[in-house]
Amino acid sequence: MRVLGIETSCDETAVAVVEDGRRIRSNLLSSQAHLHERFGGVVPEEAARAHLEAINPMIELALREADTTFAGVDAVAVTVGPGLVGALLVGIAAAKAMALALGVPLIGVNHLEGHIYANFLERDPVEEPFVSFIVSGGHTMLVHVPQPYSYELLGQTLDDAAGEAFDKVARFIGLGFPGGPALDRLAQSGNAHAIRFPRAVTEHVYDFSLSGLKTAVVRYVRAARDKGHEPLAEDLAASFQEAVVEVQVDKTISAAQDKGVRTIVLGGGVVANTRLRALMGEQAKEHGLDLLIPPPELCTDNAAMIACAGYHRLARGERTGFEVGADPSLPLV
Ligand code: KG4
Ligand code: ZN
Repeated sequence: MRVLGIETSCDETAVAVVEDGRRIRSNLLSSQAHLHERFGGVVPEEAARAHLEAINPMIELALREADTTFAGVDAVAVTVGPGLVGALLVGIAAAKAMALALGVPLIGVNHLEGHIYANFLERDPVEEPFVSFIVSGGHTMLVHVPQPYSYELLGQTLDDAAGEAFDKVARFIGLGFPGGPALDRLAQSGNAHAIRFPRAVTEHVYDFSLSGLKTAVVRYVRAARDKGHEPLAEDLAASFQEAVVEVQVDKTISAAQDKGVRTIVLGGGVVANTRLRALMGEQAKEHGLDLLIPPPELCTDNAAMIACAGYHRLARGERTGFEVGADPSLPLV
């Protein structure tokens, strides 16, 4: 079964063709980062307009690259939320039009479920139960998945999502937008123990909070500047990153142990982070846990993960009606 996936929840117009929920035939991305860079963040109206311009050519390109045609599409999967409403609507309208014209099923996908299903691509099926840590520009959450489609929220961020914090700190030290990947690169030549930034303690053990850390970084830089010197950006980046990642890894490992699961599944843009991948890998090994991480290009937003998640829901007989709309705050749990 060949599923065409569409993802337009934020600032990437993504279209993919995935066979049997596993084999990626094409997985294309048109990034709008250049559009939003000068504002230091995604501008919703600009994003929607750019999706509108890109979506049809992207669908045609994805089909061509998959060496197929409209007639070769068996179903259409599309992100219906969470995300920017105007941006989501562009993808949903395109998906509906295609499904209707071709007479094939339509399936709406939760973007966060998509990030989990990125792990099901190009490898053997992932088996529940597992604990999943989803960490992106909009979300930081730990969920227990005892069986397919059963999500128990263990904890989430009380303020900034991790990607958002990476982007803000990166911007503060002059790294552009989105800053996460640039900060990651810079940190690789820094000393993670140069500055001891605070690790937040939350009332609920699996919640996260990053606003204090963000403030600590700003304070540290200002104090240094007041004394007439500029802190070393590499050390600042590495020390900030370490403070974020250390807490994430500790909580994820504890959650897996608490729930008595043997598998940890990561998803979301921040999982592209080199240090998070490395430290989670070390700790999982030490605690005898299996760790599944998508390759970096499947961690950040893409449409293959949407096609994959859609395929699995279609395979159990689910269909989405054509009355479906965008839900900007669609919950996973
Ligand atoms: O999942 P995603 O592509 O979009 C959302 O659903 O939000 O995540 C994007 C976020 C951005 O904040 C970006 O800076 C961050 O993921 N990110 C990273 C890295 N690559 C992307 N953060 C830290 N290190 C990275 N290597
Ligand atoms: Zn995402």
